[in-house]
Amino acid sequence: MQKKRAAIMGATGVAGQQFIEALLGHPWFEITGLYASQRSAGKPYGEAAVWHSPTPLPNDIADTTVKLIEDGLNDLDGIDVVFSALPSEVAEEIEGKYAQHKPVISTASAYRYFDDTPILVPEVNADHAPLIEKQRKERGWKGFVVPGPNCTTMGLIISLKPLYEQFGVKSVFMTSMQALSGAGYPGVPSLDIVDNVIPFISKEEGKVVKETVKSLGVLEKGSIVPAPFPVSCTCTRVATIDGHFLSIFVQTEKPCTPEDYVAAVKSYNAKCAARFGELPSAPKSTIVVKTEDNRPQPRLDRELGGGMSTVIGRIRQDEVHGAHGLKYCALSHNTKRGAAKGELMAAEYLMKQGYIE
Ligand SMILES: NC(=O)c1ccc[n+]([C@@H]2O[C@H](COP(=O)([O-])OP(=O)(O)OC[C@H]3O[C@@H](n4cnc5c(N)ncnc54)[C@H](OP(=O)(O)O)[C@@H]3O)[C@@H](O)[C@H]2O)c1
Repeated sequence: MQKKRAAIMGATGVAGQQFIEALLGHPWFEITGLYASQRSAGKPYGEAAVWHSPTPLPNDIADTTVKLIEDGLNDLDGIDVVFSALPSEVAEEIEGKYAQHKPVISTASAYRYFDDTPILVPEVNADHAPLIEKQRKERGWKGFVVPGPNCTTMGLIISLKPLYEQFGVKSVFMTSMQALSGAGYPGVPSLDIVDNVIPFISKEEGKVVKETVKSLGVLEKGSIVPAPFPVSCTCTRVATIDGHFLSIFVQTEKPCTPEDYVAAVKSYNAKCAARFGELPSAPKSTIVVKTEDNRPQPRLDRELGGGMSTVIGRIRQDEVHGAHGLKYCALSHNTKRGAAKGELMAAEYLMKQGYIE
C-alpha cells in the first residue's frame, strides 16, 4: 500500500510531538512536513522543539526544517492528510483553509461544536462519520475537518459507552485530576502547581459537558441528537505529567452492579476488537479493568495499550442511588488517547472507510 503523506500543524507543541511519535514507522502514513509558528519556522525541528518523549527523536526529524503553517498551503500537492495540533484560536481559520482541499484531523476544539462536524472516536461513535458528507457539501470543501474530543472528555465517554448502551444513563458527575501536559508547553508555572492542586481550568468544564452528550448522541437525518442526560463536572489541574484521572458517579436507568458493568465492558471490548482491531493504533483492550484497591494510577497505568486503553477501577455501587448508581475511577493518557494517537486512530478508521484517499 502506498503510504499517505501526512503534514503536522503545531508539530513543535506537546500534542504535535505525540503525532510525530505515533507516526514513526506507521504502516499507513508517513510524515512529509512539520509546520508551526513564526517562532519555529526556518529552524531545524530539533532546535525549535523541546522534545519531551523518552522515545529518542530520530535524526531525520530533528534535521527537518520547520515551516510556517500557512506555507503548507503551497505544499498541497505533497500532502494527503493534515494532522493539526494547533491552539484553537489559530485552528479555525487555518484548518478551514486546508479542509478546502484535504482531510484535516484535529486535536483542537475549534470545530467540535459545529452541527456539521462529528467529534469522532471510533469506539464511541464511528456511525457519526457520515456527517463529513454534510460538512463537505454545505461548506463546498473537497476535504473536511474531523476533531477528537477534549482530552478529559475522552476517558469519560469511553468508560460511559458500555454503561450507556446496556443500562442507560440518567446523570453523570465527574471530577478530573488533570496532568500538566494537558496545558501544553511550557504550560502551568512550576511555582503554581508543585505542592498544589488548582481547582479551575479555563473553559474545560463546559467542553466536557457539551462534548460528552454530543459524542454519545445519535446521528439522525443528518444531525447529531445529543444523549439526553445531564453532566456536571469539576476539572482540576494536579502535578502529574501525563494521564488525566477522573472520579465518576453515574446514575443508571436500569439497575447495574459493579459486576454488570465489568461484564458490559468485556463484551464492549470484544465488539471494539472485532470492529477496529485491524487499525494500527487500536489498543487490544479499549477498556482495561483494574481490580486492585489502589488502581488505576497515572504513573503505573497510563501507558497500557500503548497509551490508548482507558483504565478503570474502584468500581462500586453508589450509596446515593443504590442499585441505579455506580462510582468508579478512570484514567486516560491525555496526549496519546486524548490527543494525537487517538486522532491517528480516527484517521485510520476514516482511511478504511474511504474518506482519506
Ligand atoms: N496537550 C494535550 O494533552 C492536548 C490534548 C487534547 C487536545 N489538545 C489540543 O491540541 C492543541 C495543541 O495543544 P498543545 O498542548 O500541543 O499546545 P502547545 O504545546 O502550546 O503547542 C502549540 C503548537 O501550536 C503552534 N502555534 C501556536 N501558536 C501558533 C500560531 N499563532 N501560528 C502557528 N502555530 C502556532 C506552536 O508552535 P511554536 O512552537 O512555533 O510556537 C506549537 O507547535 C490545542 O488546541 C489543545 O487544546 C491538547
